[in-house]
Amino acid sequence: MSRPADGGASLPAVDLRVRDLELRELMDDPDCDPRALARTFRRFALVNALVSGWRSVWRTHVVPALPANGQGRILDLGCGGGDLARAISRWAASDGFDVEVVGVDPDPRAIDAATRRASRGVTFREQSSSDLVASGERFDVVVSNHVLHHLGDEERAGFLADSEALATTRTLHSDIRRSAAAYRAYAFGSALVSAGTFVRVDGLRSIRRSFTVPELSAALPSGWRAEQATPHRVLAIRDA
Ligand SMILES: C[S@@+](CC[C@H](N)C(=O)[O-])C[C@H]1O[C@@H](n2cnc3c(N)ncnc32)[C@H](O)[C@@H]1O
Repeated sequence: MSRPADGGASLPAVDLRVRDLELRELMDDPDCDPRALARTFRRFALVNALVSGWRSVWRTHVVPALPANGQGRILDLGCGGGDLARAISRWAASDGFDVEVVGVDPDPRAIDAATRRASRGVTFREQSSSDLVASGERFDVVVSNHVLHHLGDEERAGFLADSEALATTRTLHSDIRRSAAAYRAYAFGSALVSAGTFVRVDGLRSIRRSFTVPELSAALPSGWRAEQATPHRVLAIRDA
């Protein structure tokens, strides 16, 4: 039987025991309102900063994988509006690293949003993971945020194989860990920052599409491992 995600308060009942792969995000509609979409990309920068836990993943999982000489290349696959790539570039500079950060996304609307703000040390390109593999590019560390839950099984297998081919040292894909607590917390918290955007609806749909740690572990090919990060996050990790 399905169980109300908010314990019965004001949220509709949703079944969080299984991934809901039928749900599509409003942002994925090519005909969605472009102004709402632009606001959504900007607002997701704030939401990601609050919920994604990348600051600590940077320290614990990215820094140890960078070359000892402090130089390197980092790739953000499926960069969306570019906030993670920009944050990584800032953290790298403040921690004394000299890294080149590249953000790619095959969606031109995402790259349009990402390139509206210039950022030193970061470039954005309208490309997919397979485009980069085809051009023979390599990066020390390959990361992504909120891409795994977005993909179907076949697309995910291709995305993981591509990221494996692109990384010389480590790949780290971070995503939401599906739970009733995550759903409830996001439902209430996002109401404060979602006006005029798709942030609330798409975030809640993303949680329903996302993995638990055992599910992610089962979905990963050999050589990968799944870890829980902050309470509501999972990481898929592969060391080359
Ligand atoms: C839910 S969005 C996440 C955007 C951003 N990383 C964030 O956290 O806000 C997933 C993004 O992955 C991109 N994507 C899907 N498949 C990809 C691939 N094979 N290579 C690169 N990007 C991909 C989509 O175009 C989409 O913009």
